[in-house]
Parts: sequence; C-alpha cells; structure tokens
Amino acid sequence: MCGIFGYVGKENNSSIGIEALKRLEYRGYDSCGIAVFNAVKKNIGVEKVAGRISELEKKIAVKGIKGSAMIGHSRWATHGGPTVKNAHPHWDCHKDIHLVHNGIIENYKQIKDRLSKKGHKFISETDTEVLCHLIEEYATGSNGSKSYTLEEAVRRALGHVRGTYGIAVISKSDPNKIVAARMSSPLLIGVNDGEYVIASDPAAVITHTNKVIYLEDGDIAVLTKSGFRIADLNRAAQKRVEQELDWDVEEAQKGGYPHFMLKEIFEQPESLQNSIRGRLIQDEGMARLGGLEPVKERIKSIERVNILGCGTAYHAGLIGEYMFEEYAGVPCEVDFSAEFRYRKPIIDKNTAAIFVSQSGETADTLGALREAKEKGALCLGIVNTVGSSIVRMTDAGVYNHAGPEIGVASTKAFTSQLVVLALLTLYLGRLRGMSYVLGERIAKEIAKLPELTKTVLKQDNHIKEIAEKYKGAKSFLFIGRKYNYPIALEGALKLKEISYIHAEGLSAGELKHGHIALIDKNVPTIAIATRDSVYEKMLSNIQEIKARGGPVIAITTKGNTKLADIVDDIIYVPKNLEMLSPILTVIPLQLFAYHVAALNGRDVDKPRNLAKSVTVE
Ligand code: M6R
Repeated sequence: MCGIFGYVGKENNSSIGIEALKRLEYRGYDSCGIAVFNAVKKNIGVEKVAGRISELEKKIAVKGIKGSAMIGHSRWATHGGPTVKNAHPHWDCHKDIHLVHNGIIENYKQIKDRLSKKGHKFISETDTEVLCHLIEEYATGSNGSKSYTLEEAVRRALGHVRGTYGIAVISKSDPNKIVAARMSSPLLIGVNDGEYVIASDPAAVITHTNKVIYLEDGDIAVLTKSGFRIADLNRAAQKRVEQELDWDVEEAQKGGYPHFMLKEIFEQPESLQNSIRGRLIQDEGMARLGGLEPVKERIKSIERVNILGCGTAYHAGLIGEYMFEEYAGVPCEVDFSAEFRYRKPIIDKNTAAIFVSQSGETADTLGALREAKEKGALCLGIVNTVGSSIVRMTDAGVYNHAGPEIGVASTKAFTSQLVVLALLTLYLGRLRGMSYVLGERIAKEIAKLPELTKTVLKQDNHIKEIAEKYKGAKSFLFIGRKYNYPIALEGALKLKEISYIHAEGLSAGELKHGHIALIDKNVPTIAIATRDSVYEKMLSNIQEIKARGGPVIAITTKGNTKLADIVDDIIYVPKNLEMLSPILTVIPLQLFAYHVAALNGRDVDKPRNLAKSVTVE
C-alpha cells in the first residue's frame, strides 16, 4: 500500500523526506508529496506530483522548500485516480492541518456528506481528506466544541472513523511536532539523538537509526525534536519496547523476507481482508460493490459474461466461470486476452465483458477490451492498479485493493482476483434470484477467508521440506478438477516462471487421454484433491498415478487423513465452500514454487525473460 514518512529534528532540509520517500517508493509509486513546516517563515510548504519521487525532488529544489518538521507520502491509489489533487498530503479548509495516510476510511462518504453540508470544501476524491476536515472541526472548535490541541483533535476525529489508518499530521497553529496514529496499518517511530521519524516501513528509517518502536493499534504518538510520547485513544500513556533492526535498506523494504514474492504470499490474509472490507452485507446475504452502482440496471439485464485475462489473471477468470455458472446462473466464457480478437467472439450489448488484470496495463487485455467495446458489450474491470489504462477504458469495475505487487510472480493479486470474483458472483446471483439463505452462506464463508489463509501459511516449513525433497526433479505435473483445475494450471505456471523447471497443469480427467505416458518415478505429480464434489474422481486419478510408480504430493482438506496412506506427501488446507477452496489450495503451490526456485538459487523476484507488466502484444 502507500508509504508514509515524517521527520522532526535538528536538520532543516527537505531532502531527508525525499530520501525516505525514495526508499518507500516500492510500496506505491503513482504519485507522491511532501509538506514541510518552516519555523522561521512559520508556514507549511507543500509540493505534490502525479509521478515518481525524482520529479518531486526537482520541484522541491526549484522552490527551495525547507524546514525541520515534515511529512511525506508515496501513494498507491485506492480511492480516486493518481492525480496531483489526490496525492497526499491533504489539508483542511484553512490549509493549516496537513496529513498523510496509509489505509482505507470505510465510512468516508457519510463523513464527507455531513461535513460538506456544514460548509467544508473538499478538493480531492480521496477517503483521506475527510480526516483533515474532521481534525479541523476539533482543532478550531468549529463543531461547537472548544479548540483542542492537535493531538486531542486527532484523537477526537479518529473516534468518528471506521477503517484502517496509519497517519502523520502537522499543523501551522500547533507547530514543531508530528502527531501520528495507527489502526491496522503499520507505523513505527525511529529514535535518534535530537531527531525522531515516523514511518509506515523500516525502509524509511534505517538510514537514520536502527532503533525503532512499533506502534500498536489505537496508539497516538506525539513527536517533537526533544522526544516523543505515546498514549491510546482513551488518553492512557503507553510504553512500547524499543527494538534494534539489523537490516539493510533492501532487506527493510522486503520487511525482513528474503524476497518480495515470499512477503506478498504472507501478506494474503491482509490483502484478502482489504479486498473484502466494506463489501459484504452479511445480514442481507449480499455484496456491496460501489464501483458497479452506475451500471447496476445494465448488469441486471445481461445475458452472458465473457472473462478476459492473461496468465494468472486468465486462471482467475477460469475459476470465475465455474462460480458464475454454478451460483449466479449466468452463461460464461473465458478467453486468453491474446486470442479473443482472433476468434470473432459473439458478443453484444447484453454481454458483460470482464477484464481481469493486476497491472491494468497488459497490452493483450487492452486489445481485447477495445474489441469488446467496439461490439457494444458492457465492459467491466477487476483491476488492482487504480487509474490504470484498463480502469480508464472500462465502463465500471471493482478494485482488488491488494496493494502493490512487486514480485513478477503474481500471488496476492491472484487471490484478491478470486475473492472479487466471488463477491461479484454473490452480487450477480442475488440480482438474478439467488436465495437469501444461499447468499448469506456464501457471504459468511467469504468473510472467513483471511483467517483461514493464516492456517495455510503456518505450514510453510512443512512445504519447504517437501520442496527440498523434490527440488531436483526435471518435470512436474499438476492435476485438479472443477474449481481446482485452474489451480493446477496456476501451480504449474508459478513453478515454471520462477524455477525454470518444466511443469504442466491438467484437468485430472485428461490424464488418461495421453499425459499419463509421462508418469514414472522421476515425474512428481501435485494433486489438488480437496473433499468436495469431485473428490472420488480425483482419488481414482491419484491411484492411477501411484499404480505407475509416480510420486504424488496431495493437497487435501484438513481431517482427510486416509489420503496420507496413499500419497507420498500431503498438505492440508481448512474446509470452506468448494467455490472458495482455490483461494486456500493455491497458497501451498505458491510456497512450493517459491521454495523450489529459492533452493535452486533462482532470481525469484525477477525471473529471466519476464516482466511484471507486459505492455507489448
Ligand atoms: O497485470 P496482469 O494481471 O494483466 O498480468 C497478466 C499476466 O502477465 C500475469 O498474471 C503473469 O502471468 C504473472 N507473471 C504470473 O505470475
């Protein structure tokens, strides 16, 4: 997600902020900004750009913005496109309070409407800006209360918000300090002699100091150049332990993980939570997808769906097809974006064409989008990157909110695509006659996913041991059926792209039509065999492989201990609805691919011949 930084101390140079933002740029890089308090001029200088930190640096140098208390932000857009107006810092009506934020304010619309009626002027489309105006209400006493200190105004303002935040705030009228607060978005204080920094990430702190204090949810910290104090939302003083980091900058950016891919795999409980947050209406058994509201009437009348994507996004689409047809009762077809235009697809104004893309810039998917638009289809996006080309070209869509994905191998973006497709299934299904009881059940199971993924991730060491055992194999097969057939494809793609080992993903039913000839003791098969409607069939396919001497690694449902007697290695995933099981079964495959590649010394985050975003056809 976004990176935030604040500094207060002996230096009088905004380059401190620029350097820190450069180290945070990997977290978000569509726009950035800085606000600097100058004690001599008693003003706050602000600069923002819709671009990289290097552009911000040039502008700051030209304007000569300097000061000894500053806040900065590197943005990964969630609400509102990547424009200068939407870049942080944001401010209140008097341009007094300046604030940077990492997280999502879920009830920002209600707050914005209420404050707009009172005369507050908003200039951005972000959720963040409401925080500045809420703080203004208490700092100036314009809501009828007395005027509070910045710290108290922040505390009172936060009492109105629902969502996640890591914030840093400065004010002209309460100068030379930073007030910071945390709720489910990381925030830490860096402690040095005569200077203190606040940041969302150790990467921004590490060149100043290795002494850090991690804030906890509900903490509000006040930093000045002579020290800091922490209290909770109820004003009770809090003591947090100081820790010493022994990371270098690159390690810090990876949060201590050896590779971004591993970090992103482990971020999945959080990224799934972000994809789901505010989108489930549990007691109505319905999904709330704000991005689709403008086209809701058209959605009600669609007769068929086409899903388009490349690579991992295509695999997500294949699972979406099973979901839509089984639960939403809508005919669905999935195409590789690169093939779509060449087969004269039969689509019209009653077709919804859904474009799935992490980057939103994939040239093949953009090509398919142009084709569908020309034919009059309703074009919808499931995209992770706010403001990207696919977002701009589609009629409406749903964001993934998975945060930036740096590793070339797509992991958390994939599971977020699946959860958005599940939400969309619920939404479409309920608009098309799905019962309340079924809707409620699906909503309940979706809500459990972030917790369930944690239990899968706990098996990392076990999966690493399995990877160690098979890392020398020259070829792998991956098999699955129904919802887990695309997971077999995805598991094989993950292994191929980062370990350079040949792997093939198949529908298990296809084995006997040719591929089984490949089986021998040197070709391991990974079988995704959860206890579901196709389990018995999967079991027969596993037996066929075992009868021919092939080693089998099975992924099955927790409690299915009988399978352990048949296969060579086994990984358990928790039980969930069959349609949601791919979100759990893919995680062991991501970890397996990661460990095989890392154990073989591959460049996991930047595999040979590949690019993160493929912008050529
Ligand atoms: O940005 P997109 O989701 O449109 O990218 C599509 C594919 O290029 C991408 O998923 C690719 O297959 C991944 N590297 C696989 O891990």
